[in-house]
Amino acid sequence: MGKVLKDKRILIIGGSSGIGFAIASAALSEGARVTIASTSEEKLRGALDRLGGGESATLDVTDEAAIEAFFASSGSFDHIVFTAADWGPVEQTEFSQTDLKAAAELFEVRFWGALAVAKHGAKCVPPGGSITLTNGMAAHRPDKGMATAAAMAGAVEHLVLGLAVELAPIRVNAVCPGAILTEAFDNVPPEFRKFQEARLSKQLLPRVGTPDEAAEAYLYLMRGSYTTGQALRVEGGWSLKG
Ligand SMILES: NC(=O)c1ccc[n+]([C@@H]2O[C@H](COP(=O)([O-])OP(=O)(O)OC[C@H]3O[C@@H](n4cnc5c(N)ncnc54)[C@H](OP(=O)(O)O)[C@@H]3O)[C@@H](O)[C@H]2O)c1
Repeated sequence: MGKVLKDKRILIIGGSSGIGFAIASAALSEGARVTIASTSEEKLRGALDRLGGGESATLDVTDEAAIEAFFASSGSFDHIVFTAADWGPVEQTEFSQTDLKAAAELFEVRFWGALAVAKHGAKCVPPGGSITLTNGMAAHRPDKGMATAAAMAGAVEHLVLGLAVELAPIRVNAVCPGAILTEAFDNVPPEFRKFQEARLSKQLLPRVGTPDEAAEAYLYLMRGSYTTGQALRVEGGWSLKG
């Protein structure tokens, strides 16, 4: 398809780390004009240094007024990608012990943040441009103790269906990653790491994925001018076995 993204203006919310950073790097190498956004100025500065290009913007997706103000002065973006996520302690809670306040908070960045960005950001995306969100395989194969995470990831996937209808001809899709080795794994407790490794050894591609492998899916969804309302799985075959 050639360098379809050359000179396209792309906003990556969550681009200071992990999958978002890999998308920024891949898009820059295709000649796109990239802006990464997240809450920490320090992380954004470090990411821009490592990227060797692009621009940054400080933005907290839990603050709707800030999102509205950002898009009021940002100019247009051909593509908006949303990978923002906050990670509380990674633990698999016994369902009967679910803290409903913490369960509601799990939706704030990844679901309500995504919805707010689509609400205000769509005004800045031209017809045929795209918005790509991020859910996760918990939506399809939740582990025990992850009922809330399954609901949140599923809610993002269904938000994509609704937004694809609401916002057409802007295209709206999601990427649904399996286990991808990002900075998010830095603070994972050893027992959860062991549990993940045992699971990964049973899937069709028996290893953890890389951020670059996940980034490919976002690049496709930006380029894929006849694709909307989809959730593209990048999960080493976990849907089938593992
Ligand atoms: N890695 C995996 O194995 C995996 C598996 C399934 C699904 N996913 C999904 O993939 C997405 C990306 O994951 P990742 O592993 O790349 O995570 P990550 O490395 O932790 O990156 C998360 C990004 O979100 C930003 N962020 C956090 N809170 C924010 C807020 N309130 N407003 C704006 N930006 C915010 C962070 O930067 P600041 O700290 O500077 O704000 C960071 O840039 C998430 O939705 C995650 O659920 C990942």
